[in-house]
Amino acid sequence: MKFLITGGAGYIGTNLANYLLKENHQVVIADNLELGNKELVPKKAKLYVADLRDKRELEKIFIENKIDAVFHLASYSLVDESMKTPGKYFDNNIISTLNLLDLMVKFNVKYHIFSSSVSVYGNPEKLPIDENQLLLPSNVYGQTKKIAEEILSWYDKIYGIRFVSLRYFNAAGDDYGIGEKRKNETHLIPLLFKAALGSSEYFTIFGNDYPTKDGTAVRDYVHVTDLSKAHLLSFNYLEDGNKSEVFNLGSGVGKSVKEIVKIVEQITGNKIAIKIEERRKGDPAILIADYSKARKVLKWNPQKNIKEIITDVYGWYKE
Ligand SMILES: NC(=O)c1ccc[n+]([C@@H]2O[C@H](COP(=O)([O-])OP(=O)(O)OC[C@H]3O[C@@H](n4cnc5c(N)ncnc54)[C@H](O)[C@@H]3O)[C@@H](O)[C@H]2O)c1
Repeated sequence: MKFLITGGAGYIGTNLANYLLKENHQVVIADNLELGNKELVPKKAKLYVADLRDKRELEKIFIENKIDAVFHLASYSLVDESMKTPGKYFDNNIISTLNLLDLMVKFNVKYHIFSSSVSVYGNPEKLPIDENQLLLPSNVYGQTKKIAEEILSWYDKIYGIRFVSLRYFNAAGDDYGIGEKRKNETHLIPLLFKAALGSSEYFTIFGNDYPTKDGTAVRDYVHVTDLSKAHLLSFNYLEDGNKSEVFNLGSGVGKSVKEIVKIVEQITGNKIAIKIEERRKGDPAILIADYSKARKVLKWNPQKNIKEIITDVYGWYKE
């Protein structure tokens, strides 16, 4: 199959590209490289440096390649930033999705696998979170994912584009020696490694007064290769003629920020200096996935626990 990955030069996108190539598929990537890394794109993938907000740039890709399915990962995805510059988030995350869908209609591409997020739920009513919970995003980023999912439903009803929306929890880990490498890093595990290995002085915990056992926010970490597997399973699910669906992708286990700090300290053998700051706007207290639907329908089972994930990441830093 020939797959288009948008945002394929980003963290999850480069991992997905490697995984799909290993599974003997062809990979075309659309990325404007604003946040991605050209040097991490696998050589066998065909990279188009294109901005999804520019329909003409995007159309060239569809003209030059017969795409079987789209994996739509490109977006802005920082909760905190989305609360400071909402327009930037609505513009990129919605316009990009619309342009892509219109071109899928024009070029008769029938399958769309969308990178959604746990952020669509906001502060969940009950834990773990299943897909039937109300979608009440507590930040603009989550709102853009919710709107994109609604747009996908309309394109399904009107044009028959079938989709799977994958609501990832916290992606982490590394399998291809790529590491988690962003131009402006805000993700927990890479920042902890910076502090543990001396390239930053301290690690900042945003909020130690959450209603959790140690006061810090609890998240559910899922290995990036487990996510990649779910993408291919989702494509197979759609190709088998099944209806559009949404799935949570998490490990079902919650870890607090302080617990992750401890694990990184244990694995690296280094003590991490901590600074406490105010909670960030829009950050829920606890997010843990109920992924039983993905297990049942997609036959997806995440393989790696948080210690294995962090051990993998340490391997990359050591190299
Ligand atoms: N990392 C996580 O834990 C996580 C959790 C939930 C959902 N997600 C979603 O998964 C997707 C990938 O996340 P990631 O962590 O790899 O992010 P990332 O920032 O590493 O990658 C995103 C990529 O998209 C590109 N991009 C952004 N806007 C673009 C545009 N208009 N045109 C072309 N390229 C554009 C960037 O240059 C970047 O390479 C995102 O949609 C994100 O919202 C990520």
